[in-house]
Amino acid sequence: MSAKSYVIAGAVALISAATGPAHAQGSPQRGAMAYRACAACHSLEPGMHLTGPSLADLWGKKAASVADFPRYSKALKAQEFLWDETTLNAWLANPAGFVAGSQMTFRGIEDEKTRQDLIAFLRLAMAPGGAKAVVAQRLVPDSLARGQTPEDLSKVGPTQQVKAARYCQNSYFVTTADGQEHSFWALNLRLKVDSSALGPKGGRPVLTGSGMQGDRASLVFSDPAQISAFLQSKC
Ligand code: HEC
Repeated sequence: MSAKSYVIAGAVALISAATGPAHAQGSPQRGAMAYRACAACHSLEPGMHLTGPSLADLWGKKAASVADFPRYSKALKAQEFLWDETTLNAWLANPAGFVAGSQMTFRGIEDEKTRQDLIAFLRLAMAPGGAKAVVAQRLVPDSLARGQTPEDLSKVGPTQQVKAARYCQNSYFVTTADGQEHSFWALNLRLKVDSSALGPKGGRPVLTGSGMQGDRASLVFSDPAQISAFLQSKC
């Protein structure tokens, strides 16, 4: 169903609601299991935006209306509909089919019953205070409600705080605050920026993901300008 035909479908849904339940009521318990597929990209915590916007407090709100999420597609922004059972059912069945040009890279949930269960869960989770409520009702653990929220880099210790970083012969040499020097093949070290509250503090980048045997890691800066200011080309 496209978003345009939603108005007509909404009217049909109203008629069928008056004549009898259109769908059996979904189970929020089973829906919480289905929600696992969403937590990779969404948090239920207000203001916590990951690949997709936080789903906090979106029930009954206009599509693409989270003010501090800057990455909505033009296609979703242009929509006028509100999020409810009918629109979520169409979106979750086939996001790209419901809103052509939208950018939720999720192929959709074919099974009608699974969608109804998920929507029963979302009705609770997307209500005001929903993240706390679904955790208190033991539908999902706190970690799932938070979603794949990144590590808090403002609180890392000296093994991850970076004192100096230089580039030489297609390699990076990164010295952390504990005095250790770590070397990487240049293509194995990703340079990233996180200017959010969870990003590095104090004007120094943070080294992440370099486990004991890890040959790949990330150097995370708090601002793009910091990259060239901090990184020296020096052998
Ligand atoms: C691969 C990442 C990804 C996954 C998985 C994903 N989403 Fe999304 N979602 C997004 C992105 C990105 C957007 C914004 C799309 C756009 O702007 O076109 C979005 C948008 C949405 C919106 C609209 C938000 C608004 O502000 O209007 C809802 C509702 C939603 N997703 C629910 C879900 C649910 C429920 C699931 C699990 C079944 C899910 N998403 C799975 C990335 C994802």
